[in-house]
Amino acid sequence: RTVYVNGEYLPENEAKISIFDRGFLMADGVYEVTSVLDGKLIDFAGHAKRLERSLNELNMPHPDVLPDLLEVHRELVRLNGIEEGMIYLQITRGAPDDRDFVFPDPETTTPTVVLFTQNKPGLANSPAAKKGMKVISIEDQRWARRDIKTVQLLFPSMGKMMAKAAGKDDAWMVEDDAVTEGTSNNAYIIKDGKIITRHLGNEILHGITRAAVLRFAKEAQMQVEERSFTIAEAQDADEAFITSASTFVMPVVEIDDVAVGTGTPGPVATRLREIYLDESR
Ligand code: PDD
Repeated sequence: RTVYVNGEYLPENEAKISIFDRGFLMADGVYEVTSVLDGKLIDFAGHAKRLERSLNELNMPHPDVLPDLLEVHRELVRLNGIEEGMIYLQITRGAPDDRDFVFPDPETTTPTVVLFTQNKPGLANSPAAKKGMKVISIEDQRWARRDIKTVQLLFPSMGKMMAKAAGKDDAWMVEDDAVTEGTSNNAYIIKDGKIITRHLGNEILHGITRAAVLRFAKEAQMQVEERSFTIAEAQDADEAFITSASTFVMPVVEIDDVAVGTGTPGPVATRLREIYLDESR
């Protein structure tokens, strides 16, 4: 793979980051994952906008390359011949001379910018979408600013491992009895034709796929309700699904060992997946 590090395109085994990088020492970094279909970036503008917001919320200096990130993404797609897959982008506060809780002086410490591609042929045609996912529920133990897309992914990673240990595919996180989101995706249920997903706030990531799917759903005259829901309500729903840049729209067919609806991907989730793939390409 050819990767991008601080202005250079390099073979992945030649890319280097300082051991003092605050992304490494303190998870002081933000990221974005943009999908690629037919060699084209999906929703790049949305990801770029959220990235800028994440930087601002953390008072992280903007790297000089920020206005040129679309070109860097396109160049990596080209250099690596990506038809279907993802581009991972990470920006950290950079590498000061030593470990220190205090933010470094932006005059002397510049942000670290890393991008790499993930080749995933067959992403859009994923067999998982035909099978649907099984999820467990776990308590949401992340920090309180989940609207910022930081690289602090230890708890989501642990959640995935808990799901795996239970023989399932993912975990939905719950706080004060309400579902926040999946470990790396937004969560939805469908009841009587209405699409229900948690309202935006600091408790969840404002998914770029979520925004697109809700827009397409409204355009298709589907009803959308943005509010929180419980696991019991989700188990009693007609359908459930998740969205993210890496899964698009993915049906959920089981929650805590209880089948949702018929226990197979439902018509609304399946249609939304088709609409999303059609419209965003
Ligand atoms: N995850 N919620 C969380 C906690 C996420 O990590 C993600 C994305 C989403 C969906 O956001 P979007 O639709 O913008 O991808 C929601 C990415 C894909 C990841 O961590 O790999």
